[in-house]
Amino acid sequence: MKNQIVLCNGIYWDCDKNCLVSSSVDIKLTQSEHKTLKLLIDNLDKPVSMNEIYEYIFWDDDREYNPKTIRNIISKIRAKLNTEIIENIYGCAYIVRSNKVSQNTLLAKKLPDISEYLIDIIDQAQNGISITNPRLQDNPLVYCNMYFKKTFGYSDDEILGKNLRFLRQSDTQEEIVSKIRTSIREQLPITVQIRNYTKDGKLIHTELTISPIFDRYNGELIYFLGIQKVIGRL
Ligand SMILES: Cc1cc2nc3c(=O)[nH]c(=O)nc-3n(C[C@H](O)[C@H](O)[C@H](O)COP(=O)(O)O)c2cc1C
Repeated sequence: MKNQIVLCNGIYWDCDKNCLVSSSVDIKLTQSEHKTLKLLIDNLDKPVSMNEIYEYIFWDDDREYNPKTIRNIISKIRAKLNTEIIENIYGCAYIVRSNKVSQNTLLAKKLPDISEYLIDIIDQAQNGISITNPRLQDNPLVYCNMYFKKTFGYSDDEILGKNLRFLRQSDTQEEIVSKIRTSIREQLPITVQIRNYTKDGKLIHTELTISPIFDRYNGELIYFLGIQKVIGRL
């Protein structure tokens, strides 16, 4: 077995130390998640039944076998690693295949870890990018990229902390605003065409896509991402 198993970009299983190593984000596994992952990696290419996993994790516990517990643990690992590396076999076993691991290893060698440059990438994108925080009062803007500021003519000081409705005037159809309101309330993505305005009053026809962003550990809504694509100017 190799010393490092690449589970996905930037995340490795260190076979010597038996632990998860991540070059960017800090990933914390619970004891049962850690044990499950170790068991699957120790058995590369061999299906491990849910029962075996259960026995391995809870050997010192008298509780009765419950497949739901294992399904839960696996889905938590999958969410934390953001990877398809753990496959289900006929609903009763799980497997980590070495060909997938070697694909990832090749990919990891070819692809640099982009997390260091993520902010530069977003800042230099040629679409407006805006992030709002729905955990704060009135879902205010907490970040916008250069293109957004250049397009609408504002500086950070003027707009951070405000709800993005300041971008439109009274000529936007209530039907569109109502669709946005509903998708935000229901935490669903939406794309609409909307009449936005610059600080000095110029109309910018915008295709706006809003995506809810969830915490990968606990599934809670943390941000909304807005992409403002200019489709026409007057
Ligand atoms: C990420 C994000 C981006 C948004 N971008 C715009 C925008 O470009 N123009 C706009 O008029 N409203 C935009 N909105 C919608 C408003 O912030 C607000 O949700 C909408 O006006 C409905 O709420 P209200 O009825 O309280 O105004 C955006 C919302 C989010 C979450």
